[in-house]
Amino acid sequence: MDCKASRILFFLSCACFLHLTRPSKLSTNILWQGEKLNFGDFLVANSGEASLSFFKPSNYSNNIYLGVNSLLFSYYVWVANRDTPIQDPKAYLILDEQGSLKILYNKDRDSIVLYSSSLEAPTNTSITLTDKGNVILREMNPDGSVKRDFVWQSYDYPTNSLLPGMKLGINKRTGQRWSITSRRTFHNPSSGPFTLGMDPNNTNQLVIWWREMIMWTSGEWDPNQQTFRNTKGLVDFNFTYVSNENETYFKYFFLSYLNIIRDGSLYSGSNTYYSCASNDRPPFQAGCKMPDTPQCRKEPTTQ
Ligand SMILES: *[C@@H]1O[C@H](CO)[C@@H](O)[C@H](O)[C@H]1NC(C)=O
Ligand SMILES: *[C@@H]1O[C@H](CO)[C@@H](O)[C@H](O)[C@H]1NC(C)=O
Ligand SMILES: *[C@@H]1O[C@H](CO)[C@@H](O)[C@H](O)[C@H]1NC(C)=O
Ligand SMILES: *[C@@H]1O[C@H](CO)[C@@H](O)[C@H](O)[C@H]1NC(C)=O
Ligand SMILES: *[C@@H]1O[C@H](CO)[C@@H](O)[C@H](O)[C@H]1NC(C)=O
Repeated sequence: MDCKASRILFFLSCACFLHLTRPSKLSTNILWQGEKLNFGDFLVANSGEASLSFFKPSNYSNNIYLGVNSLLFSYYVWVANRDTPIQDPKAYLILDEQGSLKILYNKDRDSIVLYSSSLEAPTNTSITLTDKGNVILREMNPDGSVKRDFVWQSYDYPTNSLLPGMKLGINKRTGQRWSITSRRTFHNPSSGPFTLGMDPNNTNQLVIWWREMIMWTSGEWDPNQQTFRNTKGLVDFNFTYVSNENETYFKYFFLSYLNIIRDGSLYSGSNTYYSCASNDRPPFQAGCKMPDTPQCRKEPTTQ
């Protein structure tokens, strides 16, 4: 066995060991109607590369979140309740008898509804986690086959990570905008001030906003070169453009992820930063709009 293979095996056995020592009661790929996902349970992708569970990002706070952990990136790439943390360790995720997906807590007195089917007739639904970290809600037939796929999916509600296949743009039917918004801090996933999304003025470009102010624009999409005017040569900006009667969006095609981080920089999983803010990171070549970087964006070390 060569060195690399043995290292991988070592890694896998460590991963298994860690897995076995988790207080896991439920570790499955599908959650059926009526089943609960409690704190300590995991919904695991078939590849084993992503899992959905409750987690505490910090030992110095009682805040509990539901999120998708990418084991490839060692990062919670999706957080269901980023701005509504809960403190009850007996909280659980459930598909109720209507087929709605919700987090119940405080002895069922409070809830966070992720998907509601209450206006329709009760339906039999299930959720599953894809290898790429998308939580998909399906409507099921009585025989266990899938009746309707993608009834709801977590990819439509991104946090601060853009994963391959996620969209930045607008759903013209519902008016919903797909965008990613920075975290407050590494240990606090609540919404920060920076957002990356598509320009609402139909100019086919991406924009980073700091609060309401435009901080950076990508320049218009060049359909021939499949790139933005201001991102030519930036290898991590691998997007395709789709526009039809229902939706207009840019879809991310890189193998890794793209994060908007708490100083407004974009960070790609291939360890590259793009930024208007900092001198020690590769800058965007063009498109920066704010003359001064906001105070809160400066790194502590540069003060
Ligand atoms: C919290 O404490 C546990 C046990 O000491 C430790 O393993 C874990 O890494 C800590 N988590 C964080 C986010 O600091
Ligand atoms: C939903 O469908 C699954 C698969 O057929 C079945 O096992 C389960 O009993 C159904 N649940 C309800 C509440 O009908
Ligand atoms: C879109 O239009 C509004 C209103 O004219 C303007 O304030 C805003 O700056 C425009 N956005 C971009 C990205 O140019
Ligand atoms: C737009 O949505 C309608 C209704 O869901 C669907 O029938 C149609 O195929 C969609 N069009 C495209 C281009 O996806
Ligand atoms: C984007 O990246 C994927 C995966 O590396 C590659 O297959 C595809 O050709 C790239 N697309 C563009 C437009 O560069």
